[in-house]
Amino acid sequence: MCGIVGYVGKKKALPIVLNGLKFLEYRGYDSAGVAYLLDNKVNITKEVGRISSLEKLIDLDTPSYMAIGHTRWATHGEPSVSNSHPHQVGRFTVVHNGIIENYLEIKEDLKKKGVKFLSTTDTEVIPALLDYYYKEEKDILKTIKKVLEKLEGSFALGIICDDDKENIYAVRRGSPLIIALSNDGMFIASDVPAILNYTNKYILLEKDEIAKINNNSYQVFDFNLKDIKKEINTFEGSCDDAMLNGYPHYMLKEIHEEEKVFLDTFNYYVNNDSFKETMPDFKKYKNIHIVACGSAYYVGCIAKSLLEEYAMIPTCVEVASEYRYKKNFYNQDTLVIVISQSGETADSLEALRKAKKDGIDTLAIVNVVLSSIAREAKYTLYVKAGPEIAVATTKAFLAQTTLMALLTVKLSRKYELLKEFKGLERKIKELLSKDYLEYAKAIYKCNDTFFIGRLIDYALCLEGSLKLKETSYINSVAFQAGELKHGTISLITKGTPVIGICTNKDIVSKTISNLKEVKARGAYIIYITNEECHDDFYDQLILLPKAHNLVMPILSVIPLQLISYEVAKLRNCDIDKPRNLAKSVTVE
Ligand code: F6R
Repeated sequence: MCGIVGYVGKKKALPIVLNGLKFLEYRGYDSAGVAYLLDNKVNITKEVGRISSLEKLIDLDTPSYMAIGHTRWATHGEPSVSNSHPHQVGRFTVVHNGIIENYLEIKEDLKKKGVKFLSTTDTEVIPALLDYYYKEEKDILKTIKKVLEKLEGSFALGIICDDDKENIYAVRRGSPLIIALSNDGMFIASDVPAILNYTNKYILLEKDEIAKINNNSYQVFDFNLKDIKKEINTFEGSCDDAMLNGYPHYMLKEIHEEEKVFLDTFNYYVNNDSFKETMPDFKKYKNIHIVACGSAYYVGCIAKSLLEEYAMIPTCVEVASEYRYKKNFYNQDTLVIVISQSGETADSLEALRKAKKDGIDTLAIVNVVLSSIAREAKYTLYVKAGPEIAVATTKAFLAQTTLMALLTVKLSRKYELLKEFKGLERKIKELLSKDYLEYAKAIYKCNDTFFIGRLIDYALCLEGSLKLKETSYINSVAFQAGELKHGTISLITKGTPVIGICTNKDIVSKTISNLKEVKARGAYIIYITNEECHDDFYDQLILLPKAHNLVMPILSVIPLQLISYEVAKLRNCDIDKPRNLAKSVTVE
């Protein structure tokens, strides 16, 4: 959470930093700020709200050639101007992504030494410590090292010091940070899209590395301040991938990219009905643990059904924030799979590290190339979703589901199942071309909705329910269809929308019975199925194209995503940036 951008170079810095921050708004968007050098003085402007609110306070023509900026997702202290970054104490000005776990101790200690604090953030102790130790060390790099020794937690920092009018300093411990290189200047950023308008050459900082950038050069130092050589990466995507390209919202644009995302993911691993070398052999593993958060966890639930059904591999799925603290029964036959779009989710990363520390093999299913989870896992398989900007995940979910279905085929050795993926893109297109407004109209005025389904359809219910909650703020619960009558059915009253999903003909009559039970109690039923249905228990029907059960979830999720989008639109919600959320959850 939180996004950092910094620029020093030949061009005016403020437009570059503000533009970069807009690309990082998915990381947090409750307040924002910039610090820039003008007439040898560091100036700071901060504002509550989006980058657009901050932009109104700034003259983009300001002849400043060095600036750092920040977009915030509040952890310590409410969103307010005083809690926004940059924070300045004495000579040091800092932007921070992450959490300083021992900030209270540090703050108490510094207060006793006479330091005054203006905010309730954890961040403010960083410039305070820097200013304090700089008086002893009188050298910026040595001071940063000393402060790193004092800080506990996970963080990425951009730092400027009044005594150095040429360089921006950057530090990484845990939270992601890159430096980027161009002929016109150097950048720091939390993520690559922030710099793609200017360059695609970047360097990933590792734990406790310190970078120093100026208008035409950069240096990276290790924790002992030894100058180190770093590999320069080239980002292959284009800036266009992260643009709206005529769509009103990123969520809609990203859902409409699903046909391509499916094909790109499939074709990356399969050629002429055979797996390519990009898909390794995992035959030695006898059981699987899948660990993830949020929607990625629901992909895990889908994958558990598939892996157990087709590959006969016992699979458990765990929420990462629990897995990392519980007793896990794994051994050398276990493969721990971590699914993450961003590859930076703190709980998922720590769960991966725990398994690694216990000597267990790990596989990352990740979208963001070279993200921490991708780099730290023993094996990494990328999904080919491209940059996902909307906070609610859609195309990455579909890509992850596609890849987990492919992995199931690989592990099952039933390679003939690969033919079931053939032509699926046409069915995706067919679903994308339908209008979902009428379904949304039945939902958008309600306070509560229910999603019910059995087995793999229940996993889709979980995702459908989450998508609706987060984008439209309607309370929603997902339930195993047969379980409703054990208590929750008491919540069904006249007009309560119940979305029933059934894509498995073996259990269709069972799910229909459960839908009739809620219908008898007044529910308004939207029935999603791939089986022709001549009964009249439902109020609206979504007929999915026919497909093999292995690939059915790739299709069934699409109406759920588009209904949530339409409901959020009818309710005038902030679709791409729902309240209280951030895309990349880099705090516990
Ligand atoms: C929901 C959503 C979140 C993420 C979760 C994990 O739409 O996007 O629930 O799925 O925060 O994020 P990643 O996949 O980046 O680890």
